[in-house]
Amino acid sequence: MTGLDLAGKRVLIRQDLNVPVKDGKVTSDQRIKASLPTIRHCLEQGACVIVMSHLGRPTEGQPAEEFSMRPVADYLSEVLGQPVPLVDDYLQESPTLNAGDIILLENVRFNTGEKSNDEALSRQYAALCDVYVMDAFGTAHRAQASTHGAGQFAPVACAGPLLAAELEALGKALNEPASPVVAIVGGSKVSTKLTVLDSLSEKVDQLIPGGGIANTFIAAAGYNVGNSLVETDLIPEAQRLMEQAKAQGGEIPIPVDVVCGKAFSADTPAEIKAVDQVADDDMIFDIGPQTAQQFAAIMAKAGTIVWNGPVGVFEFDQFGEGTKVLSEAIAASNAFSIAGGGDTLAAVDKYGIADRVSYISTGGGAFLEYLEGKVLPAVDMLEQRYHDQENSTS
Ligand code: 3PG
Ligand code: MG
Repeated sequence: MTGLDLAGKRVLIRQDLNVPVKDGKVTSDQRIKASLPTIRHCLEQGACVIVMSHLGRPTEGQPAEEFSMRPVADYLSEVLGQPVPLVDDYLQESPTLNAGDIILLENVRFNTGEKSNDEALSRQYAALCDVYVMDAFGTAHRAQASTHGAGQFAPVACAGPLLAAELEALGKALNEPASPVVAIVGGSKVSTKLTVLDSLSEKVDQLIPGGGIANTFIAAAGYNVGNSLVETDLIPEAQRLMEQAKAQGGEIPIPVDVVCGKAFSADTPAEIKAVDQVADDDMIFDIGPQTAQQFAAIMAKAGTIVWNGPVGVFEFDQFGEGTKVLSEAIAASNAFSIAGGGDTLAAVDKYGIADRVSYISTGGGAFLEYLEGKVLPAVDMLEQRYHDQENSTS
């Protein structure tokens, strides 16, 4: 995008402004902040700027107030210091814009055909612009009308600076990583991250499971996990990953101590226990202090750290110590560190380490799929357009 002359052009930017909203206000602005340089560049160039995004997962064809982009339009107006009208009839009537104007389109997922990458809808988006910019890294793993089809049919399609920066940073961590490479994969379920665990276990020197995922590994190592969240059917898979790591001369570390509670609630008392002392009515909610120190030591020696998913239920302070110690160890480490995913960014915010992480990704699902080595459909589309252009000019 930055190589194009955008003056006077209608520039349609697909961004990922899917942010948490509460009572009509944006509650975490990481994604909006990351998108601002792209918008500012276009405005400075004198483009007519049209921004589009999805928010949440509304039912197509049923616009609903709770999924409106209104709070994002308000936020943008404020930080840009100029009006950012929210436009909802853009499929009926092409919006009128002057150079240096910016509008935000209402939630693209209100449009029937968005998620199925419908060609007619894609062409309608494409007809809004002279230049289509795909900048939504966080949604680049979705082949939808606004992320994929629109780019196929627009007069010119290009990658936005945020998308490009994300791919470069993640590529650096993955393709020529300083070793040892450590990946922390937390979150609630092994099942949702099985493919990423599998592919990462082959790529990294050390894989550290955290959160609910770790419980399945603890069970796979033969310990009682009591009432904890655990996926019993995936124990054999966890065992296989542990053996695979051993065969490669590494190991998947199992916590030596854990923090337990009796109920999933903000006021349930926390109890530190050795991993072999978990009772039948215990639920594991965090790693214990000894384990946290072990993990911190691994961070200190790492060359590259990839972090997706907290190691405990850190939204409850009594179960946040493991994630806090880990955050601080990542911040203090000299490794090239990358953090991505909604919960991870919330932890980064909570423990105030944002400026000491080398790169913060706006992607959750996209970040994981990229790490798995999957081709992101939106990126694939952009590459295709690039080659078509090359071939037609040569
Ligand atoms: C995300 O938050 O993961 C992205 O914005 C993509 O949203 P989706 O998972 O609803 O497609
Ligand atoms: Mg997602």
